[in-house]
Amino acid sequence: MKKFNITSNLSDQTMHIASTLAKHLKNGDTVVLTGELGAGKTKFTEGFLAYFGLENEITSPTFNIVNEHTKNDINIYHFDVYRLADIDEFYAIGGEEYFDKGICIIEWGELIEEALPEEYIKISIQKQENTDNSRELHFEAFGQKYELILDKLKEELI
Ligand SMILES: Nc1ncnc2c1ncn2[C@@H]1O[C@H](COP(=O)(O)OP(=O)(O)OP(=O)(O)O)[C@@H](O)[C@H]1O
Ligand SMILES: [Mg+2]
Repeated sequence: MKKFNITSNLSDQTMHIASTLAKHLKNGDTVVLTGELGAGKTKFTEGFLAYFGLENEITSPTFNIVNEHTKNDINIYHFDVYRLADIDEFYAIGGEEYFDKGICIIEWGELIEEALPEEYIKISIQKQENTDNSRELHFEAFGQKYELILDKLKEELI
């Protein structure tokens, strides 16, 4: 499975989808979150952290660019690269060095596309018109490893 869509009608549902993804990932994996302001990228990350019991640590990493979370052997690096002036700033903070060390979940990751690892999962979140809480989540796998993960995820969610 290279791609599939799923609808979320509540922020809790988005968190549940994110937790379901989290259980398939390990250190060295990368998730890119894209979608307009307020789409639900941070909410998705909160659900992702919840799988590891870390949901209380969620903050918007606006000032740090990256927030680090650790549970047992898992490191989660939550990026928000929206405020980087350009991709050189990402290289300057040593952004690439995080990719091998833990799970990287990157809000606005499309802005640093050329710095991303070859393989990753991209999730585009779109607000739906005329509703406050409805979102379309579009999953896309780059790389066979992630295609297999999307196969499992689809089975579990649909
Ligand atoms: N189905 C849904 N999924 C996710 N969030 C939802 C949903 N319905 C409502 N919301 C609300 O939308 C808001 C999403 O905010 P969030 O901070 O996650 O957006 P964001 O994409 O991270 O924005 P930014 O680009 O500013 O970082 C939250 O207040 C959340 O409760
Ligand atoms: Mg956010």
